[in-house]
Amino acid sequence: MKIVERIKKPIAFEMELFEKKFQLSMSSKVALLNRITHYLVNSKGKQMRPMFVFLVAKMVSNGEISERTYRGASVIELIHTATLVHDDVVDDSNRRRGFFSINALWKNKIAVLVGDYLLSKGLLLSIDNNDFDLLKIISVAVREMSEGELLQIEKARKLDITEDVYYEIIRQKTATLIAACCSLGAASVKPNSADVETMRKFGELIGMAFQIKDDLFDYGEEKIGKPTGIDIKEQKMTLPLIHVLNKVSNKEKNWLINSIKNFNRDKKRVKDVIEFVKVQGGLDYAIEKMKEFQQEALLMLQKYPESENRNSLEIMVNYVIERNK
Ligand code: IPE
Ligand code: IPE
Ligand code: MG
Ligand code: MG
Repeated sequence: MKIVERIKKPIAFEMELFEKKFQLSMSSKVALLNRITHYLVNSKGKQMRPMFVFLVAKMVSNGEISERTYRGASVIELIHTATLVHDDVVDDSNRRRGFFSINALWKNKIAVLVGDYLLSKGLLLSIDNNDFDLLKIISVAVREMSEGELLQIEKARKLDITEDVYYEIIRQKTATLIAACCSLGAASVKPNSADVETMRKFGELIGMAFQIKDDLFDYGEEKIGKPTGIDIKEQKMTLPLIHVLNKVSNKEKNWLINSIKNFNRDKKRVKDVIEFVKVQGGLDYAIEKMKEFQQEALLMLQKYPESENRNSLEIMVNYVIERNK
């Protein structure tokens, strides 16, 4: 059985129902919007966030999930989709999930508005059903994601990012939403229990590994459904590069910074930078750090008794760092 099928086994029913609910949650009376949301539904992603929601909810409640869990999963995936639509405008990226991005097809103006629409649909789904405790978890994540993306832009302008600031950026822009998936999964079935915080922490740790993996993809050439090699072009400094900057001579450091500052659109130069980072062990270092976060996340799951949902979460924690897209 393929790894994703193994992960989904205990939640196959829930994921199928989720897809229907998720699709409905996007509908609009505006024809243009409907066209775009259909396009988004057809180009769906890995849906790892709803998988986290359902697996955590089922693990902490011995399988007893509710409509709240479904709504929470839909809200999270709506917000995730909204941030990707916006992120592709911010990063000027033309591919997403193996298809053209929304901005590539409909231009930035429409992409910004579609992102706003999805965000508001997500928030209203919680509000209309009085899921205020879940809404709070989600809103914190939304705020942090915006802060994280802005902190990243600030650092890209100044090119003075440290390893600690990098961790803060990825915690905010990516790990908080995965943390929200896991704490919301727990809160949807056991509000106010200690599981909510335990699972938040678990999600945050695996979310850190998740973004380091994503940043590693950018150094590769594999087909992952979105462009690679664009982080340096966008002057986005990620862990492999930060590590190498910290260990090389001043002369090499100046060459790196100069390349990113002034030659970030020069394909040959970007290639040379990527090669240099590889030779200097930048990827190895990032892999090591990614595995540390992953191991810490795995350890947290050991607090729970063995079950098929816990097993699936364990496989998922490994999948986060071993996935090929
Ligand atoms: C992409 O997330 C955005 C990041 C936080 C790196 P995913 O890799 O989960 O995207 P999809 O939903 O599967 O396309
Ligand atoms: C994650 O960062 C973006 C969000 C949290 C929305 P990236 O910019 O690296 O994500 P991708 O690579 O475009 O999916
Ligand atoms: Mg991006
Ligand atoms: Mg990326």
